[in-house]
Amino acid sequence: MSDTLLKVENLDISYGDGLVAADVSFSLKKGELLAVVGESGCGKTSLLRAVLGLPDSGVMVESGKIEFDGANVLHMARRERSALLGEKVGMIFQDPGAAFNPIRSYKKQFAEMLKSHGRFKGEKSYNEILDCFQRLNLPDSERILKSCPYEMSGGMNQRIAIAAAMLLKPSLLLLDEPTSALDTTTQKTVVEELMRLRALTGITMLMVTHNLGIAAVMADKIGVMYAGRLVEYGAALEVLSHPIHPYTRSLIAAIPTLGCTLPEGIDGQPPLYGAEAVGCSFIERCPYASEKCLEKDCSLTVSVGDHYAACGEGQA
Ligand SMILES: Nc1ncnc2c1ncn2[C@@H]1O[C@H](COP(=O)(O)OP(=O)(O)O)[C@@H](O)[C@H]1O
Ligand code: SF4
Ligand SMILES: [Mg+2]
Repeated sequence: MSDTLLKVENLDISYGDGLVAADVSFSLKKGELLAVVGESGCGKTSLLRAVLGLPDSGVMVESGKIEFDGANVLHMARRERSALLGEKVGMIFQDPGAAFNPIRSYKKQFAEMLKSHGRFKGEKSYNEILDCFQRLNLPDSERILKSCPYEMSGGMNQRIAIAAAMLLKPSLLLLDEPTSALDTTTQKTVVEELMRLRALTGITMLMVTHNLGIAAVMADKIGVMYAGRLVEYGAALEVLSHPIHPYTRSLIAAIPTLGCTLPEGIDGQPPLYGAEAVGCSFIERCPYASEKCLEKDCSLTVSVGDHYAACGEGQA
């Protein structure tokens, strides 16, 4: 049996107009964590929506292939795909509030969620929920269960959302900027909790984030996304310590370090619909840009072992 859980091949996605991501390919082995990093507007959230097939998100897969545990997701009927959601694939959103109705107790909402998947077993389920809270180190679990989301901080809601996603024991967890809406101390707690979750369950994770620091701590593999394309992909340590693409090098140079002068940053913004561009979309911002980049093929043609990039210009 294959140890690959998720395989995405040459994915093109849109919201009906131009492509917001093009030719995206990656694979995730069981138990791995891939972090897709890049600035806002690069198509990270759209990529997760496409993988998940979120029915109301408006995202459309124009071409390509998504395979989950050997099954072609794009050939599944809508009902089959919805069943996959929650049961085998869990999702954590950036906004912890989005996961819950603020004025309905967690107890009721957890019971409804389990019922909707035919998994509610009365008192036994509540014990399982409390057990899940305890495994995730949530304090005072009985009190949490009786509370409503509006009574909790954003950080606590995010931790409870993680517990909710885990209750159905999914094999893949998709995380969209899971810590971006939280203060730094709570970010640390949530990151630690997610790592404990991995250690306890061996769950596979696909996380998108603009925070390279969090990717560095958590990820096995990193995919760097720019203007809707993966421009670099490889083992996290390799990508971070020997970045190949000029964009990855700029992103790393833009990480602030304590006590130093302000980092260089990257001037300008990623282009809209850059995924459709002929030539390299980084051309407006790249210190190594030249005429030939107008016709550059954006596929991952530069490689060092299993570490790939679309360009290696200016590397030391
Ligand atoms: N619901 C939507 N309808 C139309 N365009 C969208 C929608 N959501 C995002 N986009 C567009 O898709 C592009 C990528 O956005 P997004 O996937 O949210 O990027 P990121 O998560 O990296 O910030 C942007 O140009 C954005 O304006
Ligand atoms: S192709 Fe040209 S513009 Fe694009 S990253 Fe390479 S050098 Fe820079
Ligand atoms: Mg996003």
